[in-house]
This record gives sequence, structure tokens and C-alpha cells, in this order.
Amino acid sequence: MEQTQLSRGQFLRQLGLSSGALMAFYCMGTGLTACSSSGSDDPTPSGTGGTGGTGGTGGTGGTSSAIKGTTSGTGIDFTIDLTHADYNKLKTNGEFNYVANIIIVNSGGAYVALSKVCTHEGSTVAYRSATNDLKCPNHGSEFNLDGSVKLSPAANSLTVYKTEIQNSGNTLRVSA
Ligand code: FES
Repeated sequence: MEQTQLSRGQFLRQLGLSSGALMAFYCMGTGLTACSSSGSDDPTPSGTGGTGGTGGTGGTGGTSSAIKGTTSGTGIDFTIDLTHADYNKLKTNGEFNYVANIIIVNSGGAYVALSKVCTHEGSTVAYRSATNDLKCPNHGSEFNLDGSVKLSPAANSLTVYKTEIQNSGNTLRVSA
């Protein structure tokens, strides 16, 4: 008497499942991250483009009057009023905030500014105070505060910007 052992794939095929159905089985079994498509979902959109016409607020990526200067492009150079309600949490160690495509972190009282755009597929990274690093929620890449890759799949570093405290700690300047 012949005894046959079937692989999982053969078994499922005998049940009449197509390869597409098999893929769906695989996705359900391994969680969404294995099969999710990449997206440009940004959990922290950087503003609505402003109200226009009022002038004086500067910047191109935010709506807060706390920001003055150029926040995007090659000539990034702006200041943040750290006394303003929109950004005063940055005075607290372990806090972070976004201005346009830049994440600003208070790490132990020192300010660090980097591109918030993950170099893998462009999702927005977030700061983790417990490990003092940045993590991308999309596929799990991690970055050190010097911009270097700590954990793949990202292969390239984040751009780092200069930071300078002014006005007795009440103004932060960020520049390229
Ligand atoms: S977009 Fe893939 S890890 Fe950030």
C-alpha cells in the first residue's frame, strides 16, 4: 500500500486554492507587515499650507507663527520660538517636534535636527527617548541621532542639520 506525504502547498492546491489565495493565506498568517504595500502615510502632516496673505510667518512647511525663515529646499535656515505654545515642549528633555520635513529632538538638553523622511521609502520617523534614537514605523528602520542607520532596511543616513541656541535658550536656529 502506497503512502503519500503532501507538502503544505500541495495540500492546499488539492483543495483547489489558486496561488493568489495561497498568498492571502500567507499574509493572514504572518501579519500585515509582510504584505503591506508601501505608502506615503504621514502621521504628522506638516501643516495645511497656511492661510496666506498675512505675511511675516516665514517658512514653507508650517503654519505656526513660531517659525521664521526657510524651512525647505537647499537654503534651509529658520528659527523656532521655543516660548511659543506650538513648540515649547521642545524645551523638555526627550521631546521632539516637526517643522516641514525636519524632526527636532531635545536629547539631554542638546538639540538635534534631522530629516524626518526615512531613506527607505519616505515615511516619517519618530524619536524614541528610551533608546535615544529614531524609528520609522513603516518597516522598522532605526537611525542614530547622527543620522546613521542603526537598523535596516534603510541603507542611507538621514540628513543632519545644524542647531544653535539663541536668545538665552528661547530661540532655536536650524540651518543646512
Ligand atoms: S519607509 Fe521603510 S523603514 Fe522607513
